Amino acid sequence: MDLKIYKDKQEVANAFSSYFESLVKGKDIFHVALSGGSTPKVIFDILAENYSTKIDWNKIHFYWGDERCVPPTDDQSNYKMTVEHLFSKIDVPTGNIHRVLGENDPSAEAMRYANLLEINLDRVDDIPQFDLVVLGMGDDGHTASIFPHEINLWDAEDHCVVATHPESGQKRVSLNGKVINRAKEVAFLVTGAGKAEKVLSVLEKTEGFEAYPASLVQPETGKLIWFLDTDAASMINQD
Ligand code: 6PG
Repeated sequence: MDLKIYKDKQEVANAFSSYFESLVKGKDIFHVALSGGSTPKVIFDILAENYSTKIDWNKIHFYWGDERCVPPTDDQSNYKMTVEHLFSKIDVPTGNIHRVLGENDPSAEAMRYANLLEINLDRVDDIPQFDLVVLGMGDDGHTASIFPHEINLWDAEDHCVVATHPESGQKRVSLNGKVINRAKEVAFLVTGAGKAEKVLSVLEKTEGFEAYPASLVQPETGKLIWFLDTDAASMINQD
């Protein structure tokens, strides 16, 4: 596991963008599962502004590690956010964008999306393998859309599950832990003081850490990199 700490969200986004460019370089095809949240917005803006011609977007296939079950025009949609901050500014073939269509029937979509991954991705031990899974972590220690109150979904047999937001009750389609941990690389993007306590708990395995889905991100063979800003890293031992 690699821990990279930067001054602020912008610097985290700059560092991740450069890392992403290096990952994609030399690959014929690259399958990435994106996350939602505020940090990816900054990254997408940087990729669109500084990497539109540096990266061959034709070889990148975009998926989502989790998506809210809302229409693609809804401000809650991770897809909409990605269109606004990235896809509307770079040239990506529409066939490379694999949106989660959860707005109508989340359960049926979770099955469809899992089948799509089986078809599109190479499989290792029968688990679809992403080149990169991008994750955030909520203040409650959730990641993707696996929340503490439904941590059992992490080990679900189905590769895509229907999760429920603990406060709003909003349905979401999320990758399960098997798929996340099968990825070749997993990048955790965590910024803000509100995450510091959970970052400490997850990274230093303090009492109760097992309750946080983020603590279950332990790639089988892949590389795990944490991109943190100083606020999110403020409580950990940085020696
Ligand atoms: C989502 C995300 C979610 C997010 C965390 C952190 O759909 O909301 O996938 O898991 O990554 O909530 O969000 P921030 O980047 O805003 O802290």
